[in-house]
Amino acid sequence: MNVKSELLASLASADGDYISGAALADKLGVSRNAVWKAVKALETEGFSISSVTSKGYKLNDDNNRLSADLITPLLKTKELGRNLRVYDTVESTNNITKEQDSNNVPHGTTSVAERQTAGRGRIGRNFVSPAGKGLYMSTLVRPRFSLEYAPMITGAAACAVAEAVEYCCGQPVMIKWVNDLYMNGKKICGILTEASFGLEMRTLDCAVIGIGINVRSVGDSFDEELRKRATSIEDETGVAVNRNKLCAEVLNRLEIYMKKIENRSFLAAYREREILTGNIITANVGNKQIIGEAMGIDDNANLIVQLQSGETIHLNSGEANLCRIKNV
Ligand code: BTN
Repeated sequence: MNVKSELLASLASADGDYISGAALADKLGVSRNAVWKAVKALETEGFSISSVTSKGYKLNDDNNRLSADLITPLLKTKELGRNLRVYDTVESTNNITKEQDSNNVPHGTTSVAERQTAGRGRIGRNFVSPAGKGLYMSTLVRPRFSLEYAPMITGAAACAVAEAVEYCCGQPVMIKWVNDLYMNGKKICGILTEASFGLEMRTLDCAVIGIGINVRSVGDSFDEELRKRATSIEDETGVAVNRNKLCAEVLNRLEIYMKKIENRSFLAAYREREILTGNIITANVGNKQIIGEAMGIDDNANLIVQLQSGETIHLNSGEANLCRIKNV
């Protein structure tokens, strides 16, 4: 660790208290002047630090700069996020993480970015990813389970993220099948899981779980059209969630939920939060639009839909949208 990293980690572990320049110099084994220089360098990088002559330095609560040094101390995981890189600007954290796969990076390798210039969503959509507003993260997993479980990774991840967001802001989070998280009827998060299969598609080599959460107030960074459908945690709750903490909380829960896929135990949490169930929905199946009642989530995390003809189908991919609340 270099002086800046160690300093940041020390300030973070003080939990909002001041630490004197002398104590920091002592702890880091450098001069007080070196501490001061490192503080100035961190401030230039965008970290919010207070300096008071008689007290020393403290990392402000409103610090909104991502850093591996601030995420790592909050991790309770064994593997997820232990190989962690925080970038300023990338095209897409999913792309970066997929490239790392060829270097045989370990299970749990995670990339986080302040901003994405070409953030990707499902079905070829883009994911608007302005600087400092969201948490854009991708985690590479090398699950040891068989291929049939791969489609359930996204659902398990949705449960993990929903719990983490709820923990950080105190407001309920719902899941819209298959991968969207909703607050007050608008989207706050999307998940894009991209799997890489072994020869003859029999085994799952790895999967990259890409998570995009709108954290801070989106303001003008979302156009009018997007603002009708999407929102942020801060816009809905008034809570300016700390993105470093949220990142660690997501990883902590994702590690637990990855272990709930094979025995399908994540499904109970998923079903409890799912919002289409019980309502009339529309979906595209092939090039046909269907309308029907969402009856629930089956044991493979598919959406069960009863069509107006009375026939029941199980949707395993694509997108479904709420058409109307039943009996309203
Ligand atoms: C969706 O809403 O359809 C899924 C959005 C997924 C966005 C995340 S942000 C981090 C990761 N990198 C990407 O390019 N996409 C995912």
